[in-house]
Amino acid sequence: MTAASTPRTLAAPAVAAVTGAGSGIGRALALACAGEGMAVALADVEVEALAATEALVRSMGVPTLAQRCDVSRAADVEAFAQACDDRFGGVDWLFNNAGVAVLGPAWAATDADWQWVLGVNVLGVANGVRSFVPRMRARGRPAHVINTASAAGLATLAGSAVYSASKHAVVAFSECLARDLEQAGSPIGVTVVCPSLLPTGIHVSQRNRPDNLADTVAPAPAYDERVRQGMAASPIDATDVASATLAAVRAGRFYVIPHAYTGASVEKRMRAILSDFGSEHPDAG
Ligand SMILES: NC(=O)c1ccc[n+]([C@@H]2O[C@H](COP(=O)([O-])OP(=O)(O)OC[C@H]3O[C@@H](n4cnc5c(N)ncnc54)[C@H](O)[C@@H]3O)[C@@H](O)[C@H]2O)c1
Repeated sequence: MTAASTPRTLAAPAVAAVTGAGSGIGRALALACAGEGMAVALADVEVEALAATEALVRSMGVPTLAQRCDVSRAADVEAFAQACDDRFGGVDWLFNNAGVAVLGPAWAATDADWQWVLGVNVLGVANGVRSFVPRMRARGRPAHVINTASAAGLATLAGSAVYSASKHAVVAFSECLARDLEQAGSPIGVTVVCPSLLPTGIHVSQRNRPDNLADTVAPAPAYDERVRQGMAASPIDATDVASATLAAVRAGRFYVIPHAYTGASVEKRMRAILSDFGSEHPDAG
C-alpha cells in the first residue's frame, strides 16, 4: 500500500484517541502519545483499568479524557467522538485498538463467539471510522487512522479461525479505507498494526465478555498453552509495538509488522496462493 506514503506533519495541539486504552498495546499507545506531548482521549469497557491509564497519562502532564465505551456499539463510539470534539476540538490520530480473542477449532465456534469477536474487532474498527473520519475530513487537517489488526490478519494458524477471520477483515478494511481516502484526495493517512503474540491481557480477554454473548467454545488447554508460550517467547513488548507504530505513522507507512518472524508465515501463505494460481494459469506472469 502506498496511500499513506507521505510523512505526516502534526498540527499543534495534537490529539490522540485510543480505544482499548486500559491495557496492553492500547495503554502503551496512549503513553507513547502522551510522551510526545499529545492530548490523549481514552476509551475502554474496563472502567478501573481505564482510570489507571488516565492517571498515568495525567501524571505525564498532558490533557486527557477517559470515557467508558464499548466499541462494538455504534452509539458508544459516536458519544466518544463527540466527547473528543467537545473537549479537544477534534482528533488528529485515532487508534482503533480494542480487541478480543477466542481460541478453538473452526467448527466449534459458537454463534456468540462470532458475534462477540466480530463485534469488537471488526465493528469496533468500522464504528471508529464512521464516527471519527467524517469529523477529521470536516476539519481538513492532516490526520491518521491507526487500526490494530494482527499477524493473524496476514497469515493463519490452527485454532484461531474466528480471531484470524476478524483480523483479516481489519487488514482488508484498512486497505480499502486508505484507497477511499486517497481517491477522495483526503490528507488522512491509514496505518494497520500487525503484531504477532506478545505479552498483554489478550489471552484473558473473556474478562470483558458480555453476559448475553457468554456461550462459548469449550476451553482448549492446548491452544491456550501455545498462546502463553508464544507470548513468553516474544522478543518485544507492548511499548516496542507502540514505538514502532508511532514511527510508522510519522513516516506515513501503512503496515506495521513489528515481529521479524512474521515475514516467514506471510511469505509461506502468499507462495501457497501463487503456487495454486500457477497451476491454474501456468503461462501467467
Ligand atoms: N497481545 C497480542 O499478542 C496481540 C497480537 C496481535 C494483535 N493484538 C491486538 O492488539 C489489540 C490490543 O490488545 P492487547 O493485546 O493489548 O490486549 P489487552 O487485553 O491487554 O487489551 C485490550 C483492551 O481492549 C479492551 N476492550 C475489550 N473489549 C472492548 C470493547 N468492546 N470496547 C472497548 N474496549 C474493549 C479491554 O478492556 C482491554 O483494555 C487487540 O486488537 C488485539 O487483537 C494483540
